Amino acid sequence: MVLLDISIQSRVIIGISAMLLLFISFLVVFVANQRKKMQYHKERQTMNEERERLLKEQNQLLEQRVKERTAELSEQKEALQKALQELRASQSQLIQKEKMASLGQLTAGVAHEIQNPLNFVINFGEINTELMGEMKERIANEDLPAGFATELKDFIDDLADNQHKILHHSKRADGIVKNMLQHSRRQSGAMELTDLNELAEEYLKLAYHGFRTKHKSFHCNFQTSFDKDMDRIDLVTEDIGHTLVNLFNNAFFSMNEKIKCNPDNYEPILTITTEKKEDKALITVRDNGLGIPTKILDKIYQPFFTTKPTGEATGLGLSLSYDMIKAHQGELKADSMEGEFAAFTIELNYR
Ligand SMILES: Nc1ncnc2c1ncn2[C@@H]1O[C@H](COP(=O)(O)OP(=O)(O)OP(=O)(O)O)[C@@H](O)[C@H]1O
Ligand SMILES: [Mg+2]
Repeated sequence: MVLLDISIQSRVIIGISAMLLLFISFLVVFVANQRKKMQYHKERQTMNEERERLLKEQNQLLEQRVKERTAELSEQKEALQKALQELRASQSQLIQKEKMASLGQLTAGVAHEIQNPLNFVINFGEINTELMGEMKERIANEDLPAGFATELKDFIDDLADNQHKILHHSKRADGIVKNMLQHSRRQSGAMELTDLNELAEEYLKLAYHGFRTKHKSFHCNFQTSFDKDMDRIDLVTEDIGHTLVNLFNNAFFSMNEKIKCNPDNYEPILTITTEKKEDKALITVRDNGLGIPTKILDKIYQPFFTTKPTGEATGLGLSLSYDMIKAHQGELKADSMEGEFAAFTIELNYR
């Protein structure tokens, strides 16, 4: 009954209040829900970030491992390549040695066989020369008709002339045979640590002295440029010395020939340079002589190839030098300009 007493105004107020209350409670529920959602999203974002961070770390770790493994593999590859190179080098050295040994045996055998008959030719040739001298004396002492005696003497002179040529060329052949025997008997000595600058200087003196005993008027200027930082290098001293002497002799010969063509306005100069370049030791012998014509440049290492007058050379110098340098796993290189210069470079490896 009381309710019924409530005025319409009050009822409106109560209604509005109830609606407000309902609205506020909705709002509270909505806000609470929104906050929950936001909280959920935030947590998810943090989780995602954490996951990304972990993934990044793992990626970095994996990349690091890949890098380490790659480095390890390339180190192994380098080591294998080096081992392969060494193997190839020692294989070619072995083949070279084997070739030299069998070539040496063959050469020694042939040379030995030729030497024997050649000695007969030379000995009997010399006896013939003596006999012809005696014959001429006898003819002079005998009372022979004048025309006949002169005719006989002329015959003997012709014979003596021929005999002289036979002897000259037999002796040349003998020289070649002796050279072949000497080279084939040559045995490679032991490797020893050597100062290349000292070696070059020592063998230069030796070669110059040797050349001047045969060509007394020959003089030459020397220009040396020795690398002071050159470390000692493992080599067979006699072999490299022998090679240097061959190169020096060739240079002296060429400069001496040039002097003959330009006696007044030419000054022979021999330049010797040593240089340490990375893991290589280089020696260059350069002369300003006649130079090497391009058309023979690819023949100069062939055994018995020579352009020198018959009897003066065997043509074995560069061929042997080439083999000796190859046996050291080095290189012998030539460079030249005809009429200007010739330069030979020996390249040896530090091991
Ligand atoms: N420095 C040089 N200048 C010009 N020509 C050269 C020089 N060195 C070598 N040659 C040429 O190369 C050729 C071959 O040289 P190599 O030393 O093998 O034989 P060779 O000197 O003729 O004879 P050998 O050394 O046996 O007495 C020479 O005959 C010459 O034509
Ligand atoms: Mg020579």
